[in-house]
Amino acid sequence: MDGFFAGIEQLALVRGLKASFVAYPIVNALHIMSIGALLTSVWLMDLRILGAFRSLPQAPFVALLRRTALAAFGGALVTGALLFSVRASEYAAMPIFLAKMTLILLAGANFLAFMRRAKGGEEPADGAATMLAVLSLMLWTAVLFAGRFIGFLG
Ligand code: HEM
Repeated sequence: MDGFFAGIEQLALVRGLKASFVAYPIVNALHIMSIGALLTSVWLMDLRILGAFRSLPQAPFVALLRRTALAAFGGALVTGALLFSVRASEYAAMPIFLAKMTLILLAGANFLAFMRRAKGGEEPADGAATMLAVLSLMLWTAVLFAGRFIGFLG
């Protein structure tokens, strides 16, 4: 596995990213932009499901935010993979990085559970919806904190 991660670091694209003065900070900024959009859409969506902003119709509001969250997650995935690639062996051995990946998997599974329940964009407003929304808020926020800790605990 060590050879696999060392191989990633040697890819031409990754060496270019490392060598460039501007590319890495730009990718980092795009990662932060995606994370900002993701956290904002997740918080607004989950708060609406939990009963906030009742003057806004739930189905279109949640559908818009769900699409925004998906697109933002796509951006975080691509930029995160690029950030990872420059020090792949180091990150792959860091417990805090692995914790972040585990949290992303859990948050993703929670998101899929949400999608399965949404029939025609309308969430049944029951105890399970409340539990999924609270879990979603906790998990995505934990991913954010784990991401920021990588730079300090690494
Ligand atoms: C989906 C795959 C993702 C991968 C592979 C990934 C990978 C990375 C890597 C390698 C770093 C650089 C860490 C460092 O050396 O400081 C980073 C930074 C960070 N990531 Fe991610 N990330 C992903 C998604 C996310 C998501 C979804 C969030 C938030 C919800 C997030 C939050 C952060 C934060 C807050 C930072 C610190 C940015 C900074 O302070 O410069 N990441 N990520």
